[in-house]
Amino acid sequence: MVCVSNNKSYLKSQHLKIIGQKTLRGKVKISGAKNSALVLLAASLLTDEKIILDNVPLLTDIEKMGNILKNLGVKLHTKDHQLIIDSKNISIQELPYELVNGLRASFFCIGALLTRFGEASIPLPGGCNIGERPINEHINGLRALGAEIIIDRDVVKAKLVEKKSKLFGANIKLNCPSVGATETLIMAACLAEGRTVIENAAREPEIQDLCQMLNKMGAKIYDSGKEKIIIDGVQKLHGCTHKVIPDRIEAGTFLIAAAATSSSITVSPVIPNHLEAVLNKLEESGSKIIIKGNSVSIKGHKIKAVDIETAPFPGFPTDLQAPFMALMTIAKGSSKITETIFENRMNHVDLLNQMGSSITLKDNIAHINGVKKLRGMTLVGLDLRSSAALIIAALTSKSVSYVYGLEHLDRGYENFEQKLSKLGIEIKRQITKSIISESNYHNSTLNNKDVTEIRAA
Ligand code: EPZ
Repeated sequence: MVCVSNNKSYLKSQHLKIIGQKTLRGKVKISGAKNSALVLLAASLLTDEKIILDNVPLLTDIEKMGNILKNLGVKLHTKDHQLIIDSKNISIQELPYELVNGLRASFFCIGALLTRFGEASIPLPGGCNIGERPINEHINGLRALGAEIIIDRDVVKAKLVEKKSKLFGANIKLNCPSVGATETLIMAACLAEGRTVIENAAREPEIQDLCQMLNKMGAKIYDSGKEKIIIDGVQKLHGCTHKVIPDRIEAGTFLIAAAATSSSITVSPVIPNHLEAVLNKLEESGSKIIIKGNSVSIKGHKIKAVDIETAPFPGFPTDLQAPFMALMTIAKGSSKITETIFENRMNHVDLLNQMGSSITLKDNIAHINGVKKLRGMTLVGLDLRSSAALIIAALTSKSVSYVYGLEHLDRGYENFEQKLSKLGIEIKRQITKSIISESNYHNSTLNNKDVTEIRAA
């Protein structure tokens, strides 16, 4: 059960108790992709007709995004994993900071609101515990499309230039293939006057999923998934029904967990070519991978140390860097993990070392000497993916572990412990006797001030 609570300390009072050293077996059902569902929710603002989204994962991030849309006047009806979104009557108003704080995807609404209504005000998403998360690519691209943008007391205010009734198409070259900026600009360009070309565009599957839905709505987008995307603006977009693609990061997390415990499992549904870089590295490190249609099976063997370097799609995804590092801590030999996307995405290193790993970190490069085993302990996940990494490490250890930081985990993994339990793991979510207040929610790498200020990735 995902408890959705505004009172974050409630989630902090929960933890997972994990009895390690069990092998996983069986099949796990992969949920819809968080990073697709979030941007598809933003895209629903582009039309006054109904959007029906199927296969939406039940996650706190999705709940938060839903609250943001409702605050704008969107009518949202949830039925199990289906969302019915009606953006007919929207009141353009500034979104309250507490609603958008910690949800990076909230900023992706700016392109849709600006191009449909001619104005938008979105608080700066701010940094988080994996990096500073700038938005310069979003702003520069929107300005190229004819937006006037000011940042006034941490709120980004965008409107059309004088006497213009629409954005107008432009040639935009991104300095870095930003996923969010590519998505923001595609949405803004859909209703602009004329043709927009985005060069050095991000190619992630979630962007391709967004373009598929937008084209169903009547948009004219060509070559999504390539480095150069072309969008011909149209007058209006209509409603549609769309099924969210499977979550490649969730699937990769379970496959890595199986490799780390020398288990054999099957993950489904997945789109195998969304995971190519990860499957290649799992095979290189000794696992056997079998692909059958929309299922991927893995047979974990002795783990060999391999190097990885994160990169934009189709490279090795930054979102699986932490889980893969947990695998490398018990691999035979030495490995090197280079994080090239975010400047502070190594929050898991210190705790993995406390569990008995041998990792040295310098300039975002982790050098890992594989050890025989890790010891269970009390762990505090500090961001979404480092929490998953700690759970994988706990699965491999002989003893019991208690993992806190579920407010991060529940952002991106639907029913994570239930899925692990169905695969044979002794794991359960427990309510901590004494509510962990901010003051004693400590972690060796962070003092209490940092913990209080932690915001979502
Ligand atoms: C998306 O974040 C994902 N989030 C992230 O997933 C994912 O890690 C990231 O893409 C990279 O794949 C969602 O889709 C909601 P970026 P986003 O803009 O769009 C720099 C998870 O765990 N940059 O591609 O914010 C930036 O500093 C989350 O599910 C600029 O310099 O990522 C970073 O170094 C975490 N200027 C790099 O680009 C900008 O204007 C990649 O960021 C924007 C980004």
